[in-house]
Amino acid sequence: MVKKFRFNTPIDTEAVVEHIEISDIGEFPLALDCAEKLKLSFTLGESDMIFGLGETVRGINKRGWIYESWCSDETNHVEDKRSLYSAHNFIVVSGKKKFGIFVDYPSKIVWDLGYTEPDECVITLDKPEADIYYIDGETERDIIRQFRKIIGKSYIPPLWAFGYQQSCWGYSKQEDFINVRENHRKNNLPLDCIYMDIDYMDSFKDFTVNKKLFPDFKAFVKDMKEHDIHLIPIIDAGVKKETGYSVYDEGHEKGYFCTDENGAEFECGVWPGIVGLPDFLNPDVREWFGRQYKTLIDTGVDGFWNDMNEPAIFYSVKGLNKALEKLDKIRGREIGIWEFFETKDTMLGLQNSMEDYKSFYHNINGKRVCHKDVHNIYGAFMTKAAGEYFEKEYGKEKKLIFSRASYIGAHRISGIWFGDNSSRWSHILLNLKMLPGVNMCGFLYCGADLGGFGANVTRDLLLRWLALGVFTPLMRNHRALGTRAQEAYRFGDVKEFADVLAVRYRLIPYIYKTFRRCSEEDDMMFRPLAFDYPDDKIAREVEDQLMLGDECMIAPVYEQNKSGRNVYLPEDMTFVKLSGENVFKEVMKKGLHYVEIALNEVPLFIKRGKNIPLAKPALNTAQLDTENLENLL
Ligand code: GLC
Repeated sequence: MVKKFRFNTPIDTEAVVEHIEISDIGEFPLALDCAEKLKLSFTLGESDMIFGLGETVRGINKRGWIYESWCSDETNHVEDKRSLYSAHNFIVVSGKKKFGIFVDYPSKIVWDLGYTEPDECVITLDKPEADIYYIDGETERDIIRQFRKIIGKSYIPPLWAFGYQQSCWGYSKQEDFINVRENHRKNNLPLDCIYMDIDYMDSFKDFTVNKKLFPDFKAFVKDMKEHDIHLIPIIDAGVKKETGYSVYDEGHEKGYFCTDENGAEFECGVWPGIVGLPDFLNPDVREWFGRQYKTLIDTGVDGFWNDMNEPAIFYSVKGLNKALEKLDKIRGREIGIWEFFETKDTMLGLQNSMEDYKSFYHNINGKRVCHKDVHNIYGAFMTKAAGEYFEKEYGKEKKLIFSRASYIGAHRISGIWFGDNSSRWSHILLNLKMLPGVNMCGFLYCGADLGGFGANVTRDLLLRWLALGVFTPLMRNHRALGTRAQEAYRFGDVKEFADVLAVRYRLIPYIYKTFRRCSEEDDMMFRPLAFDYPDDKIAREVEDQLMLGDECMIAPVYEQNKSGRNVYLPEDMTFVKLSGENVFKEVMKKGLHYVEIALNEVPLFIKRGKNIPLAKPALNTAQLDTENLENLL
């Protein structure tokens, strides 16, 4: 049963699509304090667990830490952070009593989930202006289904988006892309997509292509298509402020950019230099921005990734000027150590500063709204601009679109990726832990940068990470400019990589079918073991294995120099290792086991009485035979 409570006059985030009568606040089931901020609190039983919050650091069970819903351009995904790129404001509390809470509020929320007091949860909203949904049900999965029902069906991308994808910030000229394609081909490595990072643009201007690098872009896209490769360009939120650049000129003329206190265009620095931030909260702006994608679609492109849309701000022009004035004051004289640190902090504090987020404005149906109050829906509304345009012009399931920043609601028109992780072993596990949380919030098409975005990868790290990526709907290898090359053909014996990637294609029919079912039935693809085995204490606490669909359990290796791992079987299962065309099977009893897993093997556990289909390996989805399947067991 879903109950909706309204506090004052909240901004419409478009997260919920179902009409629900508003209940009387007197019936609100948790302790409430709406004096200045809005605080909701409840006490936890000793073994109560908390799930949700989507894209966040730390465990599957969120208890014991303090999180903040504040979409952040955060490159350091470590445990002591409180926010990443998205705001997924839904949790399920699992104890004697089970309930879900969705806080539909577009500004900052602090979730103190047993951090200050181990048994107390306090959810604090900056302002008492929100819709809060309270959902109770028999099981976690049932509560989540009810929630998913009110937020609408999850986005389904085209089938080819389930193929293996290669990306790198730094591929710039045509030959770079052709090399990637040919090296995969030559080495029997499957591939469906190659990503175009900001380097393809003319001076990092959205919806432009650098003519020197791509003299005939349309012919290039066509040639790639003929080789069954989809090119996926990036689009950033900020539009370069440059007279003569038609996107900027039109946006400027129509007043489509966010404004500062004085009504002038808010100016900040991102990749292209000074940009205007389109006011995506204005429907006319969304309609206009969505239309811009047509320029690239007309060249044959059929997928995009939206970036820097928290929005990421390297500096604001005003902030930078103030900081430079400060520097001028100390120039030429000796400074003390504290003054040095203060100066350093001033410079570092320019990036993504709250001061800046407080200093610009949106026009929502004629009402001037401070960005800070709607920050968490900005990126989601950028992606809506694209997704809604694609749906209207080209029909559902035709274009691939996913975003870095998101808010619940955007799951209906796009996927997400988990942003700038690093080539760290701990980030394989972090990737796994995020999956159930984002699924709870409706985001099914998702994945991490496999191999890691920042830092330098190693061969074994990449192989182990790909063996997890084999199961995530978005399976993309991506890295940052200047880091060690990490395409699958860069590390000597390519066969081991071919063995792992072949497994992905063997599993696509199963993954795709499970994905579709989960979208249609408002279900999760990846679940914590706790949801399926609520009475099994060991299963409830497992943080490094997940249930996949109704048939399997996954348990990847995520540590260096390990030839296997410990795994807990909550019931009798068949342990399967897939590698190229090889399948190893062993029936195992419920309980703790140590299993050997080589670098070219993908481990999987099938529940008793269940089976999954396998396709023949293929070099891309166009060649994949999805009709003639064999049973794994
Ligand atoms: C951001 C994105 C990353 C991209 C880079 C350059 O850091 O998260 O994926 O490669 O910008 O565009």
